[in-house]
Amino acid sequence: MQSYSVEPAKAVRGEIVVPGDKSISHRSIMLGSIARGVTTVRGFLRGEDNIATLNAFRAMGVEIGDDGETLRIEGKGLHGLAEPGDVLDCGNSGTSMRLLTGLLAPQRFYAVLSGDRYLRRRPMRRVVEPLTRMGAAIFGRDGGEKAPLTIVGRELSGITYSSPVASAQVKSALMLAGLYAAGETRVTEPHISRDHSERMFRHFGADIATGPDGVVVRGGRELDGRDIVVPGDISSAAFFMVAALIVPGSELLIRGVGVNPTRTGIIDILSAMGGAIELVDQREVCGEPVADILVRSSLLKGIEISGEVVTRAIDEFPVICVAAACADGRTIVREARELRVKETDRIAAMATNLRAVGVNVVETEDGMEILGAERLVGTTLESFGDHRIAMSMLIAGLAATKGITVTDTECIGTSFPTFISLLERVSLR
Ligand code: S3P
Repeated sequence: MQSYSVEPAKAVRGEIVVPGDKSISHRSIMLGSIARGVTTVRGFLRGEDNIATLNAFRAMGVEIGDDGETLRIEGKGLHGLAEPGDVLDCGNSGTSMRLLTGLLAPQRFYAVLSGDRYLRRRPMRRVVEPLTRMGAAIFGRDGGEKAPLTIVGRELSGITYSSPVASAQVKSALMLAGLYAAGETRVTEPHISRDHSERMFRHFGADIATGPDGVVVRGGRELDGRDIVVPGDISSAAFFMVAALIVPGSELLIRGVGVNPTRTGIIDILSAMGGAIELVDQREVCGEPVADILVRSSLLKGIEISGEVVTRAIDEFPVICVAAACADGRTIVREARELRVKETDRIAAMATNLRAVGVNVVETEDGMEILGAERLVGTTLESFGDHRIAMSMLIAGLAATKGITVTDTECIGTSFPTFISLLERVSLR
């Protein structure tokens, strides 16, 4: 088992570029594979989650070339995928599994999706149930709740679905199925979740409309291959934003980060805590807003976090907890129950780890209360097999008394293979 230690830093300084956005990278492979003609993808995230998606499409007969910089996908058209010869292994990736379930439900073949022991524990009924209403035949353990999932392709019909959770994976699974379904597929959600699918569907020429009544996809229209440039992942940038905020004397410029408003909850939350964060040179790339992010160390204060911003920062809570642990006063997180069904139960995992570094934490059913500590105490911690828990606690090490060691850090490779080298480059000792 790999482990890694981070010593306290004197400052975090310099300029970095974080790897491509994970959500957009998944979608580029999926839409490129079912479009007609060639799609090229620059800035693709070569993390294990995205490689799982790429391998799944290769296993369904899609040729995907890679010269180390640009992917070249030879799109097969809506009905050109071939039945895979084996189980499609989604690894640790919930996005691969849930979106593929939607995309495979209307194919004319049989497929099985599985993944690692963490993914096989995660809830799948949230996609299986509405897809079944569209006419899909999907089977899984625990009455369709857990992978492995078996999908027997069927013709589908569009439905109107009000999702009880704000989840881009649920929405996107139904939108992908909707590309094939008869009539209209309409999805509404309690708060708008990340809208990368909507933007990319439009970019590929899908029949899609968005408005206050949700997203509507009309089935049957072929997509056309496109050139895609993937912006830097704000979820990866978030670790470095917090690093620069909590270590005194820091100034960091993170270049080329996606700042889609459905993803910028982290900037809103850290700014409300008193963080000095500036967006520089805002621009648009392939229908996605992009900017450079300038962060300077700041005295943070505790705040209350609930409502729609929770959805817009859902993947950033582990590192928000670290910011809260270094802030003055109490931070209260509510309405964040979804954190319990991520790669691990992130409320329980962060409560355990923060307590171990001397922080006073109260766990609640749908969130937590964190009382900022004078100084974090260095120790050895577990990653719980979750990339974002591992990276968050390593960031905490920059501001701890004698550094922090995290065990089982292989998981970092699922989303951010260059994390350690970037961290070493900008940490001054
Ligand atoms: C993702 C959606 C979110 C997020 C995940 C990526 C996506 O999950 O947590 O890391 O790419 O659609 P939910 O849809 O379960 O909220």
